[in-house]
Amino acid sequence: MSSVINSERIPNNVHLGDDRKLQRALEAWQPRFIDWWKEMGPEGFQEDQVYLRTAISVDADGWANFDYVKMPEYRWGIFLADPVKDRKIGFGDNMGMDAWQTVPGEHRNTLRRLIVTQGDTEPASVEQQRLLGQTCPSLYDLRNLFQVNVEEGRHLWAMVYLLHSYFGRDGREEAEALLERRSGNEDKPRILGAFNEPCNHWLSFFMFTYFTDRDGKYQLLALAESGFDPLSRTTRFMLTEEAHHMFVGEKGVGRVLKRTCELMKKNSNMDARAEGGIDLPTLQKYVNLWYSVSLDLFGGEISSNAANYFAAGIKGRAHEERSYEDHMALEGSMTFDVPTSNGGFEKQEVPLRTAMNEILRQEYVADSQRGIDNWNKIIRKADIDFEITLPSTRFHRDTGIYAGMKFDPSGRLLSDEEWEKKKGDFLPTAEDEAYIKSLMTKPIFEPGKMANWIAPPAKGIKGRPVDFVYVRHDAS
Ligand SMILES: [Fe+2]
Ligand SMILES: [Fe+2]
Repeated sequence: MSSVINSERIPNNVHLGDDRKLQRALEAWQPRFIDWWKEMGPEGFQEDQVYLRTAISVDADGWANFDYVKMPEYRWGIFLADPVKDRKIGFGDNMGMDAWQTVPGEHRNTLRRLIVTQGDTEPASVEQQRLLGQTCPSLYDLRNLFQVNVEEGRHLWAMVYLLHSYFGRDGREEAEALLERRSGNEDKPRILGAFNEPCNHWLSFFMFTYFTDRDGKYQLLALAESGFDPLSRTTRFMLTEEAHHMFVGEKGVGRVLKRTCELMKKNSNMDARAEGGIDLPTLQKYVNLWYSVSLDLFGGEISSNAANYFAAGIKGRAHEERSYEDHMALEGSMTFDVPTSNGGFEKQEVPLRTAMNEILRQEYVADSQRGIDNWNKIIRKADIDFEITLPSTRFHRDTGIYAGMKFDPSGRLLSDEEWEKKKGDFLPTAEDEAYIKSLMTKPIFEPGKMANWIAPPAKGIKGRPVDFVYVRHDAS
């Protein structure tokens, strides 16, 4: 099962050639995907040779092949992790029953909605990032951006395969609609808020891949537990690709921090901006922004939908088997400080199943903290007294029980006037945005050279040196 058939128009390890009807349907969708890629993918680099990894098998070691490829000729394919023999549903009311190899009628709409919502984020992020190449801080970073982009394109393929294979006509219609919505477009926006936010400079790109791709990781971990086996196998393979995206984010922010510390020390007033760098308080504001919009992606703290997904065996908790002993979650509860109409809070205890979104979010919070700790090590090593912190999960929320309320990053409730006065200390201002963009007006295509605001990476890709020609860009 692991081996990938690469000779077909659509590389795959799902024996696509045995199902002529499905193969024809996907081969008809393929040129429309390429049209979308050419219109909405990285602008100005479609003819360049890019040193990219492509999946050629799904084995644990060596699934990836590295070579130069033009992005529109990238071999987007359909890869599922190997089946687990006699797999059973591992949680909820259907626990212990055989995993579903087809979609149960009663869960059809729910599963389709989950798959479409996940699928929609993939092309959305490519659209958000399509202009970034034009201001790349190095060829190394340019290549990493494109690697993330082509793999998000492949994740779209993964979801479209499920829609075409298991959801008949409405699945095919949803697959078309995935190519029609556009990030940030007023008339046909992408489904989730964070995927309509502009990602128009590299600091946001690194924050996005650190915080928002990490939400993706947790959604995929929850779906990897699904009783719908094809969804589980698809998402398990997607997770192996996702790891690289978060690496790009963590190392990217880390390199910015390192450079900021160097520039502060160069300046008699420790002023990073005076040296053309990104100062630490501004970096903290971007952490606050991208972390809070990513927290929203987990949904409301108290959610009957989440309870139903869990009960049915559709969406579990991350690492359900390894991390939890009780897979029924019928006992136990979680308590929230819920805002009251008179401006105070009251404790509300909700059954555990109703708190599944929050359980997943708390895992995400702990995972996010690990990178913050690494970033703080960089600052400490430079002997600078500053600490990056994650804001309270109540800060700047747009979904759930704290939606629209005004908290400071420590979680203290603010009046509207206080918020208006202080929000520029918490979140990037128009001036901050303008300043960051002013640092990134020109691309750097010289091999090994870095923009002034970022330190070089510790090493290159796949054993290549940092000054390797990761993208063969002909600027003429
Ligand atoms: Fe993805
Ligand atoms: Fe990703």
